[in-house]
Amino acid sequence: CGIVGYVGPNDTVEALLNGLRRLEYRGYDSAGVAVIDAAGGVSVRKKAGKLANLEGVLEVSPLEATGTGIGHTRWATHGGPTDVNAHPHLGDEGRLAVIHNGIVENFAELRDEVTSRGAELESETDTEVVAALLGLEVQETGDLETAFRRVVKRLHGTFTLLAMHQNEPGKVVAARHHSPLVVGVGDGENFLGSDVAAFVSSTRRAIAVDEDNIAVITPDAIRIVDFDGAPVEFEEYEVQWDAGAADKGGWSSFMAKEISEQPDAIGNTLRGRLVDGHVDIPELTELGEPRLREVDRIIIIACGTASYAGMIGAYAIEQWARVPVQVELSHEFRYRDPVLTDRTMVISVSQSGETMDTLMAVKYAIERGVTTVSVCNTQSATIPRESDAAVYTHAGPEVAVASTKAFVAQITALYLIGLHLGRVRGTLAADAEAEAVRQFETLPEKMAEAVATHEQIAQLAHWMADTRSVLFLGRHVGYPAALEGALKLKEIAYIHAEGFAAGELKHGPIALIDHGQPVFVLVPSPRTSPLMHAKVVSNIQEIRARGARVIAIVEKGDTAVLPYTDDVVRLPLSDALFDPILQVVPLQWFALELSTAKGLDVDQPRNLAKSVTVE
Ligand code: G6P
Repeated sequence: CGIVGYVGPNDTVEALLNGLRRLEYRGYDSAGVAVIDAAGGVSVRKKAGKLANLEGVLEVSPLEATGTGIGHTRWATHGGPTDVNAHPHLGDEGRLAVIHNGIVENFAELRDEVTSRGAELESETDTEVVAALLGLEVQETGDLETAFRRVVKRLHGTFTLLAMHQNEPGKVVAARHHSPLVVGVGDGENFLGSDVAAFVSSTRRAIAVDEDNIAVITPDAIRIVDFDGAPVEFEEYEVQWDAGAADKGGWSSFMAKEISEQPDAIGNTLRGRLVDGHVDIPELTELGEPRLREVDRIIIIACGTASYAGMIGAYAIEQWARVPVQVELSHEFRYRDPVLTDRTMVISVSQSGETMDTLMAVKYAIERGVTTVSVCNTQSATIPRESDAAVYTHAGPEVAVASTKAFVAQITALYLIGLHLGRVRGTLAADAEAEAVRQFETLPEKMAEAVATHEQIAQLAHWMADTRSVLFLGRHVGYPAALEGALKLKEIAYIHAEGFAAGELKHGPIALIDHGQPVFVLVPSPRTSPLMHAKVVSNIQEIRARGARVIAIVEKGDTAVLPYTDDVVRLPLSDALFDPILQVVPLQWFALELSTAKGLDVDQPRNLAKSVTVE
């Protein structure tokens, strides 16, 4: 869910909506705002569906706000996405409003308590129970902050909680427990947000609130205390993203914009890390060379697209650093009692740095004393802050739910980590290092060529708008790239899609091939990977013989595949480890164009949220 809070002299509703527009990628099942109105009471507007629905409600029945407000965009957990279940929820007979991101696990017990203490509940949400409890505590203590502290101490589960009370206008209180919260520091106004996107168009000054702390904002002051009320020191930082980066800027969708930004995403992730023909990552150097040399196993943990970046990264890290690398979904990692020692390194990969499954897995690793490295795209997010080292991808804000530019930046960062480790550990041959650096130096330019396949792919998608199932094949690093191509299609075009290792096809999935079945095949370069190339061409022949419609993504000038393909997409390939980074781009365009052809919302696919902060 996305959360925003505002106190200050400017248009409160506009400040809240502005924040919610930029946070909508965190959930769009419903949206709502609460403000202190001109009569001094709490007024709420909320509506199921996307933010546009709430904006419609506000047009018909506007709010007269006076400088204090909270807003929410929801990804439903407890209770379906209805108007009633939308946040904010009220307590203290409508005198206070609460919004919440997370899950309150002991809500059933708390619900019994508040109803027995006389509260009446309307919705099925855990949040309304919290609002009711807070109301009861305010009635007892007469003070929002004291009541708030009492309540947050009693909640189990995860939460970012914001509250305001009509008796204390000009104040919003917020607490976090395993869920993100940042403060935006303005001039005579202050903000709260799930992430900096909530306020970056108004201020670039931010404060990351630590775990189990409470922030209290008024227009002129920010205080942070722990759950017992003891003051906590904090530091401001400057947000590096510029506000414009989170705008669509003429593109039909954020996803289209973000796909086209991939050359820069790679270039910016490389910047300052290629020094005199070597890879140098100061964040890893700070861990100390002995520690890097002693690592005897790496486990990469991530979810979704980030996990495919992890799978790709694993090939490169093993090749260059000669350490066994295992890739695991974050939510699986924790529950199988993994073998971890002080020589294990856990690398987490997360665009948002807030994905709860990954955060919990990182915490689990930290508790077991392993070295943790975070590959993350969001400055000062929870996962990089908790980890021993953070290697940031500098892809810029990614708004579309389906990840694209963050994915290629994650692969870039993982490769850089592999090269750095290889150098420090003495396993990286000089010519291999030189070749990798050369590949990196030319990658942004080649990426631009991959982005330029858009038109060709749009045509293809146009003709394939009725397709009901698509398969993707790849070998080596091309295999996870094929998985990613399939995931993109599932996510935004709602089409059944699967990725396979090309060699695995004959062991089962080939039974799926029927007349006209579209199959995308990532074909390695015949010059640099002749063996793999020959195998993939054989695989193509096998499926073509069974009626498949083959769309091959090949190196320019590769004529060997032509007799067996229906469509060919040509790219400047040149290295087995690097080529799939380029080959995934037409697959991204394909998903986008098919989604568009089906009239779907490319940026906000149904049932998903970009940043899933519940387990
Ligand atoms: C969600 C999104 C996916 C994303 C995954 C990991 O499930 O819908 O698109 O890949 O989270 O997100 P992260 O922020 O950890 O990279």
